[in-house]
Parts: sequence; structure tokens; C-alpha cells
Amino acid sequence: MSLAGFKKAFHQIDKIRIRPYMLSKIGWAYFRTLVLRKDTLRICEFSITAECQSKCSFCYASKFDRPSEKILSVEEIKNTWEQAKRMGAFSSVVFGGEPLLHKDFFKIIEILEPWKHLITITTNAISLNEDKIKELKRLGVFLINLSLNSVDAQLNDDLRGYKGHYAKVMDAIELCKKHGIDVFLPVATSKKYFDETLKIIDFAKKVGAGVTINLMCAMGRAEKNYEELFDGEFWLNLRKLYNSNPNLRSDYDVNLNMKIGCPAGFEKIHIAPYGDVTGCSMNPVSFGSVREESLEKIVSKMRAFYHFSKRHPSCIVAVDSEYIQDYMDFAENFSSVPYRIEKNPFYEKHKGF
Ligand SMILES: C[S@@+](CC[C@H](N)C(=O)[O-])C[C@H]1O[C@@H](n2cnc3c(N)ncnc32)[C@H](O)[C@@H]1O
Ligand code: SF4
Repeated sequence: MSLAGFKKAFHQIDKIRIRPYMLSKIGWAYFRTLVLRKDTLRICEFSITAECQSKCSFCYASKFDRPSEKILSVEEIKNTWEQAKRMGAFSSVVFGGEPLLHKDFFKIIEILEPWKHLITITTNAISLNEDKIKELKRLGVFLINLSLNSVDAQLNDDLRGYKGHYAKVMDAIELCKKHGIDVFLPVATSKKYFDETLKIIDFAKKVGAGVTINLMCAMGRAEKNYEELFDGEFWLNLRKLYNSNPNLRSDYDVNLNMKIGCPAGFEKIHIAPYGDVTGCSMNPVSFGSVREESLEKIVSKMRAFYHFSKRHPSCIVAVDSEYIQDYMDFAENFSSVPYRIEKNPFYEKHKGF
């Protein structure tokens, strides 16, 4: 990469440039990575709740719930974010479960300081309304991700297990436009429904939105659902799609090191609802809990993990068959994820890289 990736990373440049602090943090992160050659965290995502109103047939988060444990408090999230910032992070995505169902949702957004950082939310839009959009804008959020699976209302609602979801997203797009909030449409893109993704890309162009491709990963309700997964050949076709559609993006495309590939553990981490730290939200493997250890210690363990340190040139949870077989499939032994990596017998030979 990639001038294209660089441009995608800055798809919101018109908003960033009026925020000098944000711009300086981003500039510093590139400088640390490219000039000082230091591993620099870019994004720390938070799944703040396991609760949801929908029953999406493919939902990776469906196994997040642990009824006997307490989700991270606002204070714990703040503390984790402070640590992530010290490691370079300037960006976060807040999701879940459905983030708007968290009773302290706006407090959490506020402590992430959206005026100073790239903070977005990913929502199913079911409980999004004009007042909430206005509040997010007041707090400094300028981009909202509204999940969609098809431009056919019936098919979308069937896949997402919620009648009326499509209409909610359409209303939310209009409200966001009205209040000057950028919209991205994240699509859980599967082999089976790939045509739907192509139609959403066309639709997004018409309404002035971007599209985020989340390649289907076999986790939660999609555990061991190989039919929907992709392979190396598809990955090459996907690259062509990216190159011909500037409004498309994925997290493996916007790396500070300017290379396309899996950012897990190096540039990106995810904090699950009860404090487990994983390489991304779609990875069921935990390297420790922020309730027990410092983030720095956990991240250094992640960076010594073979599958992260190899910096796979595509998405490991969706495309890397070795990782999927050894680590994703192993999640079937647990009623809740993330599971601790030490429990996986393959880890013994994959640590210390
Ligand atoms: C788990 S949801 C949480 C946020 C919110 N409830 C929503 O649906 O937007 C985050 C995103 O992951 C996508 N997703 C869910 N399961 C997936 C899977 N197995 N593979 C890829 N993407 C998935 C959803 O469509 C959504 O865009
Ligand atoms: S993808 Fe989002 S809306 Fe669908 S069940 Fe999972 S958390 Fe809920």
C-alpha cells in the first residue's frame, strides 16, 4: 500500500482538519510507526454490553454474555482508554451487543473524548432517534456506523432477526444527514450473500454513505459456519472491489505501517464486555483481562503470539484457515467467549515469537 489505504484512513479529512489535537495525535502515530519504527496502537475498540434486541443469525457477539459477571464500569473503561492512549491509540469504536442499550452509553462516549479522538459507534439503529444523534454530535462524534445486511427489507430483517430493522436504518440515515453526521454501513459480508454486499455498495453511493466490509467470521451464532467464509481467491477479488470503490473500507486497510493486513495486537485491540483483551471484536481468544493486568503487559503478550506477529496479509479470523481451525473452532468448547488463550493446546507452540 498504498496511497489508496492512506486516503481511506483519511476519509474524514475534512472533519479532522478542524480538530488540531486529533490531527497531531494521528500525525504522531504515523511518525512513531514509519520513522521511529515503533509498534504503535491505533485503535482500542470497546464492546460495552452483551445485551441486544436483535437475534442476527450470524452474530459473533451472541456468546459474549456471562450472567454471573459484571460488565466493565465507566471508570474501568476510562482507565483502560487512558492506558491505550499512552500506547498511541487515537481511535475507538463502541459497540456490543447493542451499545445504545447500555445505561451509561453517553457517559462512555464522553470519557473517550470524541472532540480529540476518532470515536465512532456501530449500532443496529433500533433505538437510535433524533435526540440521541444530536447528543452524539454535541459530544463530538461525526461518524456513525449503521449495520445493514441487504437492501431488500424482508431479507435484511430475516437475517438480522428483527422485523423493522431495515426501516430503522433508513430513518437513521436521513436523520444523520439532517444533522451533518457521516454514515458508514457495516456489512457482515458472507460468501452466500455476497450479491447483497454489492447492492449495498451501490445503494451507499446513492445516499452518500461509506461501506465497511466485515468479512463473515465463524464465531458465536456463526461458529463453524464454513459455508459463509471466504478464502484466498476471494480475498484477491475483494482487493479489486476496494480499488474500484473509494467509499469502501475495512480495518485491515488503514494500518499505520501502510501495509494491508491484520492489525490485531499491534495496531488494534478490543476490550470485551467483562474486560478480556482480544485482537479484534471478532476474535474469541483473550490474552488477559484489564481487571487483572496492565494493558501494556497484555499487549506485549499479544505481540509475541505467532499468528499476530506474522502480520497476516489478510483477515485472520475470516480467511486464515490455520487460525480458524486452531483458534476459532476451539471456541465451541466454551459457553461464553472470549476464552483464555492458555486453554488452547496450540498456544504452547505459538507463544514467544
Ligand atoms: C456485533 S455487532 C454490535 C453492534 C450492533 N449491535 C450492530 O449490530 O451494529 C457489530 C458488527 O458486527 C457485524 N457482525 C456480527 N456478526 C458477525 C460475524 N459473524 N462476522 C462478521 N460480522 C459480524 C454486525 O453486522 C455489526 O455490523
Ligand atoms: S449483530 Fe448486533 S444487532 Fe445483531 S444480534 Fe449481534 S449485537 Fe445484536
